[in-house]
Amino acid sequence: MQLAIAGDLHGQWDQSDHALLELLAPDALLVVGDLSDGTPRIPALLRQLVQEQQLPVACVLGNHDSGKDASGHILTRQLAALGPLHIGWQLRELHPADPACGPGVTVVGARPGTAGGGFHLSKACTAVFGPLTLDQSVDRIVAAAAGADPALPLVLLAHSGPRGLGSDACDICGRDWKQPSCDWGDQDLAQAIDHIRRRRPLALVVFGHMHHRLRRGAGERRTLVVDRGGTVYLNAACVPRHLVDDAGLALRHFSWAAFDGQGLHSVAHRWYGLDGRLHYQELLFERTPSTLPVAVEPLSC
Ligand SMILES: [Fe+2]
Repeated sequence: MQLAIAGDLHGQWDQSDHALLELLAPDALLVVGDLSDGTPRIPALLRQLVQEQQLPVACVLGNHDSGKDASGHILTRQLAALGPLHIGWQLRELHPADPACGPGVTVVGARPGTAGGGFHLSKACTAVFGPLTLDQSVDRIVAAAAGADPALPLVLLAHSGPRGLGSDACDICGRDWKQPSCDWGDQDLAQAIDHIRRRRPLALVVFGHMHHRLRRGAGERRTLVVDRGGTVYLNAACVPRHLVDDAGLALRHFSWAAFDGQGLHSVAHRWYGLDGRLHYQELLFERTPSTLPVAVEPLSC
């Protein structure tokens, strides 16, 4: 089972991505939000992708998807445009079209529209989802995960990552735009992970929001963490994801997660040419016997 993962799009999604996915033929696509600033173009393209390629797509919207509209109308329109592709606080099973590629994975969406920083609901999110408490959001994520088939690997899909993964600017959810640096992960997601892992293993947590390139030329952030329980955390927010290398070659970024019969096998950042050729790869994780989860321990946060 091959999962292609698109980090924060920020408008960079078009037919070249669809053509590339047709060549690469992953089994499913995960999208971590910040599609644009609330324009309908990309939700429509993602729906088109599902129809034309029969590619399962799961998405959780980010803070930019409200389009600076505090009334929540733009966010509501984005949710409606995505329809079943949006899985905030919901569970979705993703199965490869070819059963030989494995049984699939279960994906649970976290809180949509988050801007990270613990637990903060924007006016748009409050208008659309109601005055939700942190505990209610935790309960929704945990309840969705409780319905997951225990035989399938579980993946959490979020816009912002969880709290508890480091407080330096270069950490996977570290705040880099303002001093002092701090942990900008979400508390509800961290608590939900803690609850879920008391009951079952959690293979992978995928998110974006904190872009890879740090402010003021301070380098790149850490984009993968494996905790003591064997859960892998991936920040997929390579922004911009459409880029041109020094040789003038147009590239498209996807993060890539491969599962086999034993669970998560490998995770990488990949930069493809438009012809489907893999030009650069950063292998972030590859399972060895010592990285198989041996115990389920709560995430300290
Ligand atoms: Fe973003």
